[in-house]
Amino acid sequence: MPSSAAPGTNIALVKYWGKRDPVLNLPAAGSLSLTLADFGCETTVRFAPDAAAAEGCDRVLFGGEPADSHFAGRVQRFLDRVRDRAGINLPAEVVTRNTVPTAAGLASSAAGFAALALAASRAAGLRLLPTELSALARQGSGSAARSIFGGFVEMSAGTRADGSDAVARQLADESAWDVRLGVAITAAGEKAIGSTAAMDATARTSPYYPAWLASVPGDLDEARAAIRDRDLVRLGTVAERSATRMHACALAADPHILYWNPATLAAIATVKELRRGGTAVYFTVDAGPHVKVLCAAADVLRVEAALAATPGVVRFLVLAPGPGAHLKNEV
Ligand code: PMV
Repeated sequence: MPSSAAPGTNIALVKYWGKRDPVLNLPAAGSLSLTLADFGCETTVRFAPDAAAAEGCDRVLFGGEPADSHFAGRVQRFLDRVRDRAGINLPAEVVTRNTVPTAAGLASSAAGFAALALAASRAAGLRLLPTELSALARQGSGSAARSIFGGFVEMSAGTRADGSDAVARQLADESAWDVRLGVAITAAGEKAIGSTAAMDATARTSPYYPAWLASVPGDLDEARAAIRDRDLVRLGTVAERSATRMHACALAADPHILYWNPATLAAIATVKELRRGGTAVYFTVDAGPHVKVLCAAADVLRVEAALAATPGVVRFLVLAPGPGAHLKNEV
């Protein structure tokens, strides 16, 4: 039976950067994020004898076109886990499309693998608990484990070798706090290095990696307390610190890893200028040049006006907290 899921993406406020087990994709430290109402993808999966693209090869369509071999291979390996668990041996057809505005340059593996975990497990006849779905999604992409849940979510590094405790949990649901996440899309420069390769290079070559890992638990405590108290200044402050430390750590890799472009810096300068003017707005940056900002819903128009007018910012999107991954339909 085909199943469709359409989760939103999530943006980490305490970043995940580094793995303790690359095979099981286990994070070396915890992370904390906000799931967004949109900005994800919609994925439908069906397992059937006629679903194969070729002998032994799942059919993977991305935005209506056959997916490139790298992406299709990643999806197929993920589906193998689902097939093993469900005890089935059927090929799959996966139809996926991003709900991110086109040309936004924000590929979202977080939403993608959360959608695939939910849609594929259901289509294979499995009924997994949210925690089990989170562990499954993590095997596709570390950040995807968080998109299973809505609102503010914490991902544990876990300590077990099998990764069963490396799962996410919800700290506060999407209606708990009226914040907004804005995305200042900056003109993309050279193609950035993917997060898995970059994390690996950072762990191997950055002398700051141990210090980065040591700083995460304190940032998690701080962010958790800030969410509990709905303290935007405290949450924003820790989010900026986590992002700048993550990028500093990657920048110290050999060769260095730099995701920022001039517009990234210009957008950060605008955020600081807004703050000097009394608006509580804070930035974070992921494995790319775009700048995400956290602010109160009441301030978002002012923040949008300033960032949309920043040189190099080509577009500004405003997103609200959203629910966790859920099935769209089951036909
Ligand atoms: O889940 P991945 O492998 O795409 O890595 C995500 C890395 C960051 O987005 C930079 C940080 C995070 O915690 O989401």
